[in-house]
Amino acid sequence: KTVFHHAYYLHAIIVLKSACLNKGKNLSYIPALHPKTEYLDFSFNNLASLHQNLFPKLVDLQFLDLTRCRIQHIAGNAFNNVRNVRTLVLTGNPIEHIGNKDLNTLHELQKLVLVDTGLLSIEDLHINYLNKLQELNVGANQLLSMQIPSYLINFTDFRILDLHANNITVIRADDTAVLRQIGKNITVILNRNPIIHIDPGAFQNITLRKLDLRETFISTEVTKDCLNALSGLNVGNILIGHFGRKHKILTLDFYFLQGLCGIKFQEIYFHIVERTPTGKNNLLLCMINATKISLIDGELKDTEWVQFKQIKELYLAGSRLENIPSRQLSNQYTLQKLTITENIHPVAFFDLMINMPLLQYIDISKNQLLLRGCCHTIFKFMPKLQHLNMSLNSEIQFLYKPFQGLDSLQVLDFHHTKLKSVNFNMENLKDLMYLDMSYSRIIFTHEFIFKGLGNLRVLKIPGNYFQGDVFLHMFVDLKRLEILDISSCGIDSFLWKSFGNLKELRHLTLSGNTLTAIDFVTNPGLAALSWMDLSQNQISHIAVHVLHNLPKNLTTFDLSNNPIDCSCSQSDFIMWIMTHKNIIKNHHNVLCKTSSPESSPVFDFDLESCTYILILNILGPISVVILILTLSVLAYKFQFYLRYCCILQRGYKVSQQQECAYDAFVIYSNKDEAWVMEELVENLENGIPPIQLCLHVRDFEVGKPITSNIIDEGIMGSRKVIVVVSQHFINSAWCRFEFEVAQCWLVLEGNPNIIIIILEDVEEVKIKKVFGLHKYLKKNTYLKWKDNPISSMRFWVRLRKAK
Ligand SMILES: *[C@@H]1O[C@H](CO)[C@@H](O)[C@H](O)[C@H]1NC(C)=O
Ligand SMILES: *[C@@H]1O[C@H](CO)[C@@H](O)[C@H](O)[C@H]1NC(C)=O
Ligand SMILES: *[C@@H]1O[C@H](CO)[C@@H](O)[C@H](O)[C@H]1NC(C)=O
Ligand SMILES: *[C@@H]1O[C@H](CO)[C@@H](O)[C@H](O)[C@H]1NC(C)=O
Ligand SMILES: *[C@@H]1O[C@H](CO)[C@@H](O)[C@H](O)[C@H]1NC(C)=O
Ligand SMILES: *[C@@H]1O[C@H](CO)[C@@H](O)[C@H](O)[C@H]1NC(C)=O
Repeated sequence: KTVFHHAYYLHAIIVLKSACLNKGKNLSYIPALHPKTEYLDFSFNNLASLHQNLFPKLVDLQFLDLTRCRIQHIAGNAFNNVRNVRTLVLTGNPIEHIGNKDLNTLHELQKLVLVDTGLLSIEDLHINYLNKLQELNVGANQLLSMQIPSYLINFTDFRILDLHANNITVIRADDTAVLRQIGKNITVILNRNPIIHIDPGAFQNITLRKLDLRETFISTEVTKDCLNALSGLNVGNILIGHFGRKHKILTLDFYFLQGLCGIKFQEIYFHIVERTPTGKNNLLLCMINATKISLIDGELKDTEWVQFKQIKELYLAGSRLENIPSRQLSNQYTLQKLTITENIHPVAFFDLMINMPLLQYIDISKNQLLLRGCCHTIFKFMPKLQHLNMSLNSEIQFLYKPFQGLDSLQVLDFHHTKLKSVNFNMENLKDLMYLDMSYSRIIFTHEFIFKGLGNLRVLKIPGNYFQGDVFLHMFVDLKRLEILDISSCGIDSFLWKSFGNLKELRHLTLSGNTLTAIDFVTNPGLAALSWMDLSQNQISHIAVHVLHNLPKNLTTFDLSNNPIDCSCSQSDFIMWIMTHKNIIKNHHNVLCKTSSPESSPVFDFDLESCTYILILNILGPISVVILILTLSVLAYKFQFYLRYCCILQRGYKVSQQQECAYDAFVIYSNKDEAWVMEELVENLENGIPPIQLCLHVRDFEVGKPITSNIIDEGIMGSRKVIVVVSQHFINSAWCRFEFEVAQCWLVLEGNPNIIIIILEDVEEVKIKKVFGLHKYLKKNTYLKWKDNPISSMRFWVRLRKAK
């Protein structure tokens, strides 16, 4: 079932796409569509007329956009096959006539857009059966009246009547009769109509949700009259004045806005372009009962302030204030949100705003403010303050604990405002989630500046300076940080530990620094990182071990505008870039470092040209390894020869100048020492003639390396070598060594002067373990010791003969 669903969704996506792909194709027919298509954007085609069989049967179609399809005629039943459409857009079609049946088939229609269709009257639409209609947009037509058909009373969900940019000049009392009956929750948009007159009382007892009258009146005189004529209207939100910032400097008389006092409204948006007369004005007088006021460009310098009854939000932009009107705003108990922005003159705080128990939000950005002794002294009567925006001002000077008592702060923004203080403490801001200190010209010298900010999610500190190793502990407390921006700070390296505590960090922006290495991103603490911007640094290469240990969730990696080293020696890195195209952002700007001014994208780099070098790079080490292995095997096999070759070589030279000091060197195991001392030494040295033996325990020079002793004293200092073979001999590494050296030596000398004494029976397998012994015993005679008087007598005789 899931598989089926999956396939279905996949199909739906494809269908959706194909439906969009029909846009702007200059098609004069509707191409084949999936019968389950729900969304069809067929704008900018060439349909001329909508006839009955134009649309295929699309029972699920909900959205149909036919913007600018040059439609002139709509035949009755044209929409038969798409009768469930909920949104129909016919904008920009020069429709000549809409018949009685044309739109009425669309029983499900909720939104009808007929902007710029040359419509002369809403009556012409014939939409009397569309009783599910919620929104009718007939803007930019040639309507002369705002009169609406009476059947709209039956459209119980009707909400928005958009009549913008028509040719309505006069509103008569009759025109609003239907509106009065429709009820309470309608938005009427009349902006950009050239109104010159409204019958007084035309809006008496009408309740609207919203009335948009921006740029609706042709002059300020008319505005004044019309506002008076609107008396008796009850509206949730009224919008008057202008859209943009085109300044017509006009002077208004004192009673300009008197008409507003006759309108009941909760919210007002007023973009005043006109200059109020010099001297006191009463701009705010009629707004005393409003809950939300947005006043744009209203000159408030000389305004008489009022004590608002229920104000919640006050937005004052471009008010040409010289001071923040702290005294006037004091005691506005109900105020929750205050914005004072875009004042042209430098603005100062003189008095304190007091008694603002509900104020949560202050935005005093873009005022060229100069704040000294910030901030808890200034905002101390706002215990609920959560949002403080002081960005884009001139200068702020913080106290040591600037936010003491403002423990509820969640958002703090002072970007692009010069911060004079460096040593301050924000530890009490346990709820702070957003902190923007970008471009505040701060020199971070102490690493505990963000101490205690355990709830911070967003930290922006680009465009500042950092001294010494402040990064060591700077971020340790920010365990919930998700977004961190430290771009454009001239930083050349981070410590591996710097970001290790940021377990929830998703976005890291480090662009515009001078980083050359990024080993710090392999810190396992950064596991949640999915987005990393390293553009405009000095990264020429990233080591393979770093690439292999990048955070697993990384889906966006911006390496653009770094001087990437595109030499074949870095082909592993380039290969990685190419195979991770899906996560590399800004492909075209991931560039190879070149000396020429035009650098080419890394993705255009011809990796194949490196293949030859690559093969060498791979084969080279392999053959070296093989050679070393072969040599080691050989060396292991012939280790004795190698080991002694040099020793012997040296010894051979020495021996020619040397007289033999001993008659025989005895090679034996220490464990056979008893036999050697009691039997061998007793019989040979004390016999007649005495035979001088060289015994390592007795005759080796102290302080000389054993190997040298063996060679110099033993083997070369003696004419013969006696080897006492026993179990112990076989087991002793030194004995075997001595025997091997002796053999090699005698091979060199060409003189078989080894006498072997078998002290006890040793298994053949073990004998074979001693290099050369087995062979030697086979080829040469040897003496076997038997511990009885007759045999030993014979033994000694033979031994003496062997010398
Ligand atoms: C659109 O098609 C019509 C004919 O169907 C043609 O006259 C017109 O030039 C075309 N327009 C464009 C922009 O291709
Ligand atoms: C607006 O209506 C007047 C007549 O009331 C007419 O003279 C004028 O041409 C119309 N303007 C437009 C743009 O249709
Ligand atoms: C008024 O209309 C708006 C949409 O325009 C809607 O969200 C709101 O629920 C409506 N209120 C009432 C009381 O019908
Ligand atoms: C404000 O409301 C009061 C009653 O609540 C009313 O008497 C007064 O006229 C209203 N003022 C304005 C300017 O709307
Ligand atoms: C602060 O104000 C500036 C300028 O008005 C605005 O761009 C910025 O988004 C505001 N900051 C916050 C956190 O809302
Ligand atoms: C990686 O991303 C997935 C899906 O967005 C998420 O569920 C997971 O928690 C992330 N891993 C870490 C370590 O944050």
